[in-house]
Amino acid sequence: MAILEVKDLVVSVEGKRILNGVSLSLEEGKVHALMGPNGSGKSTLAFAIAGHPGYVIESGRIFFVGEDITEVPPHERARKGLFLGFQYPPEVEGVRLREFLRLAAANCQEPFCEFQKLYREALEYLHMEDLGERELNVGFSGGEKKRSELLQMRVLRPKVALLDEPDSGVDVDALRLIASGIEEAARSGTAVLLITHYPRILEYLPPAKVFILDEGRVVKEDGPELAWEIERTGYEAVR
Ligand SMILES: Nc1ncnc2c1ncn2[C@@H]1O[C@H](COP(=O)(O)OP(=O)(O)OP(=O)(O)O)[C@@H](O)[C@H]1O
Ligand SMILES: [Mg+2]
Repeated sequence: MAILEVKDLVVSVEGKRILNGVSLSLEEGKVHALMGPNGSGKSTLAFAIAGHPGYVIESGRIFFVGEDITEVPPHERARKGLFLGFQYPPEVEGVRLREFLRLAAANCQEPFCEFQKLYREALEYLHMEDLGERELNVGFSGGEKKRSELLQMRVLRPKVALLDEPDSGVDVDALRLIASGIEEAARSGTAVLLITHYPRILEYLPPAKVFILDEGRVVKEDGPELAWEIERTGYEAVR
């Protein structure tokens, strides 16, 4: 069943049109890869779906579990079970990771005792015990920031997770950990949109579908073999 549906989305940022009519749908419990050249609009699509106010939807609709959420504010989208893992996770001074996530979990109606258990388990799973009491991403290494995004997804257990390059800049052990965390989320029902430049992560978690975005449009969609075809031939072949 399609849990998230994007229809003909046209999006502008600061008056510049970036997405020119993107349509795609994500299914429950499946991993979908989104690939495309630098600047093709992948992060823009993720921000627009999450409801970032700087990304103006000129036309098109976004449906979440059948409900039109195009005009719904971002925190309510999050409450409904939509999660965005950033390509460049921001550092937030003065806010502890634990506190931030406790409030986010409460926003998603997670009882406090359940949160404590989930947080402890997620820290262990992602080998982040030393980071659990630190300020949100402050001074985290690149790879630690990516694990921090995964930790948030693991605690919040979203219906849809948009993961913007969770594999960029992470070491080989962290890559395996991140891939298995994503796989577990999908197995428990989360629909995943995995933005990546590398088919390597897809070896660990074969996607049901691969979408290729180019110049703000989905130019091709196919099975996992499409990621390898792109690796061999580059994007010229799908233009
Ligand atoms: N705030 C902004 N002001 C002007 N242009 C912007 C802004 N945000 C994004 N863009 C432009 O939108 C285009 C798409 O950017 P986006 O970050 O979505 O690309 P991407 O596919 O995620 O690329 P990458 O693979 O490098 O992460 C780029 O040309 C970018 O410069
Ligand atoms: Mg990007």
